[in-house]
Amino acid sequence: MKGIILAGGSGTRLSPSTDSMNKHLLPVYDKPMIYYPLSVLMLGGIKEVMIISTPEDIARFEMLLGDGSALGIQIAYQEQTEPKGIPEAFILAEDFIGKDDVTLILADNIFFGQGFTTLLRNAIKNHKHATVFGYRVKDAERFGVVEFDHHQKAISIEEKPEDPKSDFAVTGLYIYDSRAVQIAKKLKPSERGELEITDLNKEYLKWNQLHVELLGRGFAWMDAGTQESLFDAAEFIKTTQQRQGFKIACLEEIAFYLGYISREVLHEKGKSMEKTDYGQYLMEIANRKHSQQYWDTIDHHPMLGLVENE
Ligand code: DAU
Repeated sequence: MKGIILAGGSGTRLSPSTDSMNKHLLPVYDKPMIYYPLSVLMLGGIKEVMIISTPEDIARFEMLLGDGSALGIQIAYQEQTEPKGIPEAFILAEDFIGKDDVTLILADNIFFGQGFTTLLRNAIKNHKHATVFGYRVKDAERFGVVEFDHHQKAISIEEKPEDPKSDFAVTGLYIYDSRAVQIAKKLKPSERGELEITDLNKEYLKWNQLHVELLGRGFAWMDAGTQESLFDAAEFIKTTQQRQGFKIACLEEIAFYLGYISREVLHEKGKSMEKTDYGQYLMEIANRKHSQQYWDTIDHHPMLGLVENE
């Protein structure tokens, strides 16, 4: 399974903050936005990741995440010269995907909830053709919207409908087989001039090959694409982290518990930013005798076969 993070676009809805800065590098409370989608791919067990962004911004992502080796994963980079639409990611990543399945996540999407890792790993394991994730929202008209029959089977999917047929938004996390590349190549731009991910999903739906996994009320899904939603997301992260003492989307912590990096490397990384709460958190985990017990309390352990570095 390959992973793609789509982190381009014009970010106009967050201007002036994004006039000189890619949206996905803005902080969501205590870490850059892109940490959140990358943590999702890592928790899903995906180790080969491609980040797609604008020619101007690629270097900044590389400065932040390098080739991924510091996290025990591989990160490749690909330019998208213009924001021609989400499915263009598959065309640009054709060689990277090859014959593999691929998980795409939009870089402004944040997922959080007890059991999310399990749900995602199962979705990846059981995946055939196409899988998308539905989430109930109050403002469905802002999103792709999926309608179900009585057996919770998807029957229609529409992009930003004026009159949504259901309250279920399609989140920015998608799993496809490698046919997504060829399907994307055949799509035509919509009225807003973009290739639409909803049109790609419609193709799979037409063949009865679109599976919708629902995220229940215990999950939080946020898209931090507007000033308001970015602020809400930061507030949510701050409140949850401060209450529990766990960090959300702490990439080095995840890499450590997945056995990708050693306790020493984790400590060193923390030390390199010891003046920050983030750095201190990393050192604290590295110094804990029984880090595993803490990890167990947040739903990851049973399926991951951890931890070589304990
Ligand atoms: O967040 C979920 C929603 O994302 C889905 O419900 C919709 O079906 C889907 O179309 C998309 O809607 P948005 O209007 O939010 O998409 P937006 O154009 O804002 O792009 C989402 C992210 O992808 C954003 O962070 C920028 C990035 N992007 C977008 C396009 C069109 C790119 O990197 N390149 C692009 O060409």
